[in-house]
This record gives sequence, C-alpha cells and structure tokens, in this order.
Amino acid sequence: MRISFVGLALLGLALAAGATAEVTRPQANPSAAAQGDVERGRAVFNGTGVCYYCHGVDGQIEKRPQLAADTAALIAGLSPPPADLRNSKALHLKSDKQRAKAVREGHPGTGMFPDTRMTNQELVDALAYLALLRKEGAAAPK
Ligand code: HEC
Repeated sequence: MRISFVGLALLGLALAAGATAEVTRPQANPSAAAQGDVERGRAVFNGTGVCYYCHGVDGQIEKRPQLAADTAALIAGLSPPPADLRNSKALHLKSDKQRAKAVREGHPGTGMFPDTRMTNQELVDALAYLALLRKEGAAAPK
C-alpha cells in the first residue's frame, strides 16, 4: 500500500509533537563531529529520535512500542516497510555518511521523513548505536 504525502506529513507532525528535544540547529557536516557514544545513541534511538516507532525498540523490528492506533496504522502501511537495522545483509546503505544523510534528509522513496531536531552529536551517537545493532544482529543466531 502506498501512503499519501499528506499522511506522511501528518505522521511527521504527530511524531514531532511527541518529542520534547531541545532544538539545536544542525550544522553542515555531521561527519566532522567527535566519536559517537553508543549508550547515548541508544537513548536517542529509543527516545527523541523516534526511530523506535518504525524500527522497533532497540532496533528489534518486531518490538514496536505502544502507539496511537492511527500512527500505528500509518507505519504498518509504509511501503517499503521500515528496515530491520539489525540485519546488515538486507540493508542498502553502505556508509555512515549515507546513513547520516538518510536521517537528516529522509530516506528517498520511503516513509522515513527527515529529522532536523537532533544535534550533530546526537546524530553521531545514533550512528554509533546503529553500528552496534548491525554487529549484534550479525552475531545473533537466526
Ligand atoms: C516513519 C517511520 C520511520 C522512522 C520514524 C524512522 N525510519 Fe528509518 N527507515 C524507515 C523506512 C521505511 C526505511 C526504508 C527501508 C527500505 O529502504 O527498505 C528506513 C531506512 C532507514 C535506514 C537505511 C537502512 C538501509 O537500507 O541501509 C536507516 C539507517 C534508518 N532508517 C535509520 C533510522 C534512524 C536512525 C531513525 C531515527 C532518527 C529512523 N530511521 C526513523 C522508516 C522510518
């Protein structure tokens, strides 16, 4: 099922309204920031970044949080569905630069909308956490 642009915009608004992050202007080059902190990245992923709404708590795709019914329905209708960030074999992006761009500008052709609220440090922390998810996913028995 394709979801409408209006639906996506509404979803973005709904998610943004739920987040209480302090707004800091993103700078041009996030890759220049210091090394990421995995634990802080995890907090961003499961918190203000709202990544867990679609990608699951701790990146476990089947572990979605309790969401308002209409938000849950919008996410369930996304085509393609949100990526399983623990399954590196199924992932398309090959570098943190590409991933940072996907988070900041949205993932083209998908329901993943741009995040402009995270600080650069939070983005770097989130990328460090994503690397851990891929590592844990590769180590886990399938
Ligand atoms: C509205 C649902 C939604 C939210 C919220 C969301 N994503 Fe996504 N994400 C998607 C979808 C859909 C895709 C595309 C899957 C595909 O291409 O098959 C995607 C793709 C990605 C990819 C690329 C995976 C690959 O193929 O390499 C990354 C990395 C990612 N998301 C990280 C994040 C992070 C970090 C956050 C939080 C800042 C986030 N996402 C928030 C839905 C979401």
